[in-house]
Amino acid sequence: MKLSVIGCGYLGAVHAASMAELGHEVVGIDVDADKIALLSAGKAPFFEPGLPEVLTSALASGRLRFSTELADAAGSEVHFVAVGTPQTRGSYAADLTYVDAAVDGLVPFLAEGDLVVGKSTVPVGTAERLAAKLAGTGASLAWNPEFLREGFAVKDTISPDRLVYGVPDGAAGERAKAQLDGVYAKALAEDTPLVVADYATAELVKVSANAFLATKISFINAMAEIAEVSGADVTKLADALGHDVRIGRRFLNAGVGFGGGCLPKDIRAFTARAEELGRGESVAFLKEVDAINLRRRDRVVDLVVDALGGQVHGRRVAVLGIAFKPNSDDVRDSPALDVAVRLHGLGASVASHDPEAMPNARRLHPQLGFAASADDALRGAEVAVLVTEWNEYRELTPEHAKELMAGTTIVDGRNVLDRDAWRAAGFHHVGLGRG
Ligand SMILES: NC(=O)c1ccc[n+]([C@@H]2O[C@H](COP(=O)([O-])OP(=O)(O)OC[C@H]3O[C@@H](n4cnc5c(N)ncnc54)[C@H](O)[C@@H]3O)[C@@H](O)[C@H]2O)c1
Repeated sequence: MKLSVIGCGYLGAVHAASMAELGHEVVGIDVDADKIALLSAGKAPFFEPGLPEVLTSALASGRLRFSTELADAAGSEVHFVAVGTPQTRGSYAADLTYVDAAVDGLVPFLAEGDLVVGKSTVPVGTAERLAAKLAGTGASLAWNPEFLREGFAVKDTISPDRLVYGVPDGAAGERAKAQLDGVYAKALAEDTPLVVADYATAELVKVSANAFLATKISFINAMAEIAEVSGADVTKLADALGHDVRIGRRFLNAGVGFGGGCLPKDIRAFTARAEELGRGESVAFLKEVDAINLRRRDRVVDLVVDALGGQVHGRRVAVLGIAFKPNSDDVRDSPALDVAVRLHGLGASVASHDPEAMPNARRLHPQLGFAASADDALRGAEVAVLVTEWNEYRELTPEHAKELMAGTTIVDGRNVLDRDAWRAAGFHHVGLGRG
């Protein structure tokens, strides 16, 4: 099928390349000329495992091209809208200006029978409003939320764990479903679960999934706060809770909390939208979920300050990790970057390191100190703090750290190091929620 993908960021670039890899003829369109130049040259504009390979192979097949012109969407049958929906400055609500601009810009290039498919995460009610913009074009609208995880985005796009279509009633809905079935023929042939619903349900599936995941993380982080004042160990608590299959162990790792371009802004946008709908109380708990999450960043900073005896100025601190999670270079609302920036703000001499996220962090916070390697960050540090659980940091041994560091305190902001081994080697190992 002929597809266009409007917006080639973390979601759209992967979607465009993966759809071409699956055999579709795809044009990826973005207003960012630099991004389009990189993608056209087969270079991923961000770090995502597997993306360079699918980009190269899809470009070589001739089925994938990129453009800055929305006019190049003309002739495609299905148009995916994958532009950003960031938090509005000064408000919790989602900023829908990019989604509106993309749909308004597409309208002149739509033909009878085309399908516009929203992939961006939007407040419930957005699809219905956007559908009205297509009146008179002969095109219809579907909402097909995206559940990919950065770090696994290619795999999640090619083999999703479920597909959700939000479609209109009647014949238009049946046609939209048939078109989406064509796009996702391979996944459907592999028995990927499919839920076909109305627009509102499809929109809500995405935001409620993120609300649930954020709540699970903040739940265990709330238990970590209690563990800290009661002497309990939240990691053992999580193991014990996780054996209950109704609860499950995943997303129960206490630490410095969640971040990234989705969870924080999605739970905030959800509370804003619920308030607009007169049901603010239904998701008021998400404000507490957000508050618990942000308190964990304070806690990590406090632990470092305490380890330095309250005297931070000029003291060298190694910050291991900048991305909001491993296997990504995404620093949007990253707890790790936040911790580094705050320690710098307190006067610490911060040596930050991340295998992939340093260029993004340097662009936003050139004032921070960046180290070329984890070893360089650790060299001479009085305290080290692990805030993104990249494998290379998980594998760090206390013996190696001891050779490099000036001090012997490690703050394990992700609870991934073997506390007993670090303590046995003479380190003061401080975890989160561990008594
Ligand atoms: N990143 C993820 O893991 C993920 C997962 C699921 C859903 N989402 C949702 O997908 C959407 C996109 O997220 P992202 O992380 O890819 O954001 P992003 O900021 O990386 O990408 C958005 C892209 O849209 C482009 N853009 C903006 N306006 C445009 C226009 N009018 N025409 C063409 N291009 C335009 C921007 O230049 C940018 O490249 C958001 O709603 C997000 O919540 C993201």
